[in-house]
Amino acid sequence: MDDLDRLRTDAFRDLDASADAGELETVRVAYVGRKGRLTEILRSLGARSLAERKSLGSAANAFRDEFEAKLTARAVVLTTAAAETRERFDSTKPGAKLHRGHLHPLSLVDADVRRIFTGMNFTVVEGPEVETERYNFDALNIPANHPARDLWDTFWLKLPAEGGKLARPNLPHKFGFGHKLLLRTHTSPMQVRYMEAHNPPFQIIVPGRTFRYEATDASHEINFYQVEGLMVGPDISLANFKYVVERFFTEFFRGKDIAFRFRPSYFPFVEPGLEVEIQVQQTTNGSSRAVARGNKQQTNVWIEVMGAGMVHRRVFDAVRYNPDPTAGGVQGFAFGVGLDRLAMIKYGIPDIRLFYGGDLRFIHQFRSL
Ligand code: DAH
Repeated sequence: MDDLDRLRTDAFRDLDASADAGELETVRVAYVGRKGRLTEILRSLGARSLAERKSLGSAANAFRDEFEAKLTARAVVLTTAAAETRERFDSTKPGAKLHRGHLHPLSLVDADVRRIFTGMNFTVVEGPEVETERYNFDALNIPANHPARDLWDTFWLKLPAEGGKLARPNLPHKFGFGHKLLLRTHTSPMQVRYMEAHNPPFQIIVPGRTFRYEATDASHEINFYQVEGLMVGPDISLANFKYVVERFFTEFFRGKDIAFRFRPSYFPFVEPGLEVEIQVQQTTNGSSRAVARGNKQQTNVWIEVMGAGMVHRRVFDAVRYNPDPTAGGVQGFAFGVGLDRLAMIKYGIPDIRLFYGGDLRFIHQFRSL
């Protein structure tokens, strides 16, 4: 009986002292576990006298009930306390940072381009990604069987246009009847669509997604982004174009006076045609960064970033503009620039496929731009 009294005092003291669920379990095992102190007493009853068995037995069993009730009560106290600690608000701690989304590098560059050109009074228009052969090729002076078509590896679509509309609902753009359909290989078709519906003078840019049926590598993707530019009026010349690109580059590269040059080139929808090249420094990881004018380092190289030229009179013919400026007609310049290439040069990105791979380690580097 003395043993039992001591056991009781110890057990209730230990229960009260337990600070968490783990400690409480240790106390439980110490008293009522398989080798617990109370269990030993109960087990020893068989060896005792009948009188002892009766008195000690009922006292021990009563104690066990009491012990278990207190154990449960203590468990409730401890879990409530734990929950309260977790929820307690400490107003002196710094605020917890929220995870926010951020823009993709191509969206950043797209926004830059729109901002810079609207700042020069250009209007932003968009066109369909599914095009007809006529807008993507013929009206741009690239007739069927012309070798220049090889410049654009094309995804042709099986579905023909029907009754002036694409045979699929919810497309806002009209297509000619029976025309072969394709995924546009450049944004240039929108030149024709825009001129068919508007009169000069005007200046527009056309940002958009384009597609090429070709093998991918570090500088080629089957889908990428372009921005088309078109300025038409009675006296527009390449000098105007030079001003526009120069201002564009300066703003795009954050005030850096970068080195660029024009080289003669061929595109069927312009005459004369030219390529705009900028000078870059190549780094060991394969990326290129634009350098400032006057940077004469031996390792610098020129890379093409843009096609351009004076709009070909056959393109004006296709949209029924008068192409003779001496007889009240118009002329204009056009250009096309790859957004991906610009983004790669601006941020030092070595591989175009990174834009579309969905690797968050790449994407998150643009979080704070
Ligand atoms: N559309 C051409 C391409 O994707 C780029 C281009 C070149 C656009 C010359 C133009 C231009 O407007 O004048 O390769």
